[in-house]
Amino acid sequence: MLEARGITVEFRRRGGETFRALDNVSLKAADGMITGLVGESGSGKTTLVRTICGLQKPSSGEVLIDGRDAGEAYAAARRGGGLPVSMVFQDASGALDPRQTALDAVAEALRVHGLAPRPRIRDEAARLLSTVGLPADVAGRRPGAMSGGQCQRVCIARAIAPRPAVLIGDEPVSALDVSVQARILKLFAKLLAERANGLRAILMITHDLAVVSAICDYVYVLERGRIVEHGVPSEMFAAPRHAYTRRLLQAASFKYDPANPV
Ligand SMILES: Nc1ncnc2c1ncn2[C@@H]1O[C@H](COP(=O)(O)OP(=O)(O)OP(=O)(O)O)[C@@H](O)[C@H]1O
Ligand SMILES: [Mg+2]
Repeated sequence: MLEARGITVEFRRRGGETFRALDNVSLKAADGMITGLVGESGSGKTTLVRTICGLQKPSSGEVLIDGRDAGEAYAAARRGGGLPVSMVFQDASGALDPRQTALDAVAEALRVHGLAPRPRIRDEAARLLSTVGLPADVAGRRPGAMSGGQCQRVCIARAIAPRPAVLIGDEPVSALDVSVQARILKLFAKLLAERANGLRAILMITHDLAVVSAICDYVYVLERGRIVEHGVPSEMFAAPRHAYTRRLLQAASFKYDPANPV
């Protein structure tokens, strides 16, 4: 399980004053669960993810993987284990190299992390592409010849290649058509259910409450750097306790229907 404990991140702004982007944020992404993190633009979602991935040093607080400091887990990963966490981003086609085929993109991730013996890399990459639901004929295509949904599937295959314990999606479906969004969300749920490539938990960052309602088992609400509410989505959306959660629900095009929970 992934745990962030009391994370505070402060940025120094021009003029010297400090800006607190995260204020004592704690959350858990438990094994077997899809945990959601929702909040408006600027609430600190990406800052938290960057901290979890070790790209941003917190002013205080710690990130733990299975109770151990995440830094140790990253060091172990460099010695050849799987990665503790891996990311999928919003802009799938932009995240891929336009000159690389789908197979090459996944093969490269395997090579970089040294997670498959050289002669096995292409077979392993093909297996991962099939795991994310891509037909064999897509393997040889470049991003320009793939749909947005197919590009995102390649990004997901590439993200699970280094055998992450936790897969973090930062708005991974918000750039896709609604019908494609549903299929990609189902893919996330399927990968977790199958423990694909050792996957144990998913952290889903989104501003879209419909995404949370569709697949999250638990959700945290972040407002201006603070967690203001957390709970099981169906319960929270039926009776939001915090004014900010109510505002998010009112602003959402999605309406939670207790008679028809997803
Ligand atoms: N390197 C930085 N230096 C100074 N301020 C920063 C830095 N990175 C982020 N911030 C500020 O921290 C706050 C949170 O930003 P963050 O990118 O984490 O928000 P977000 O919730 O991911 O927003 P979005 O939904 O738009 O992606 C914002 O006010 C942002 O301007
Ligand atoms: Mg962001």
